[in-house]
Amino acid sequence: LLTPPAPRDLEGLHVVVSAGPTREYLDPVRFISNPSSGKMGFAVAQEARNRGARVTLVTGPVNLPNPLGVEVVRIETALELRDAILLASEQADLVVMTAAVADYRAAERAGEKQAKVAGDVTVLLTPNPDILAELGQNKGDRVLVGFAMETHAGVERAALKAQRKNADFILLNYPTREGTAFGGDDNEVTLVRPDGSHEAWPRLSKREVARRLLDEAARVRLSQNA
Ligand code: CTP
Ligand code: CA
Repeated sequence: LLTPPAPRDLEGLHVVVSAGPTREYLDPVRFISNPSSGKMGFAVAQEARNRGARVTLVTGPVNLPNPLGVEVVRIETALELRDAILLASEQADLVVMTAAVADYRAAERAGEKQAKVAGDVTVLLTPNPDILAELGQNKGDRVLVGFAMETHAGVERAALKAQRKNADFILLNYPTREGTAFGGDDNEVTLVRPDGSHEAWPRLSKREVARRLLDEAARVRLSQNA
C-alpha cells in the first residue's frame, strides 16, 4: 500500500520543538522529574521535518532515537532547556513546547552526595523560569504552541494559560485517559485558543496529533501574515 507523500508546506521554515521531562538535581545522584516519554515532541519534530522544515529538537532524557534529519540537542535541567530553546528560537518561525518542564528546582544543588540523616528532611524548592511565557514576551512573528495537562476545568485553565503566556494555542490533555498522554502512543487532546474557543479532537496517534498541530500552526501563520 502506498501512502501519499507528505506535503512540503513547511519548506523554508525553522521549527523548534521541546520534548521530554527535565531533571532537577538535589545532589549529583538524585533528582526530581516526571514520567514524560518525549513521544509527542519527537512526533512533532519528525512530521515537521517530513513537511520540509528545518527542525531543532531540544529534549530531556528519553528513550527514543533521534528523528531523521532533525538537529537534536539533549539537555537535563529546566535551566539548560531554557538556554537551548532561547538560542534555537532566535530565527524560529514556530516553537512547540511539549516538554514537561519541572516547575521547581532545588534552591541549592549539593555538590556532593548527601548522606541520609535520622528523621525528616526539608528541601527548599525555587521556581523555574517559564520558558513559553518568556518566548511570548518577545513573540515577534513566531507562532507559539504549548501543551497542558489538567485534571479539572481544563478548557478554562488552558485558555488562561495561553493568554498569560501569549501562546497562539494550547493542546490540552488529561492524565487519566487510558493509553494517552504520559508514555502512550495515542493522545486525546482539545485545541484551546486564548479567546477560549476550543475544539475537541478524537483519540488519535501522536503522529496524527502532530500533523493536525502543524496544520493549525500553518493556518495561524498565514492569518498573521495576511
Ligand atoms: N512551560 C514552560 N516553562 C515552564 C513550565 C511550563 O515553557 N517552566 C510550558 C510547557 O512546556 C507547556 C506549557 O508551558 O507547553 C504549559 O505547561 P503547564 O505545566 O501546564 O503550565 P504552568 O504554567 O506550569 O501551570 P501549572 O501551574 O498548571 O503547572
Ligand atoms: Ca507546570
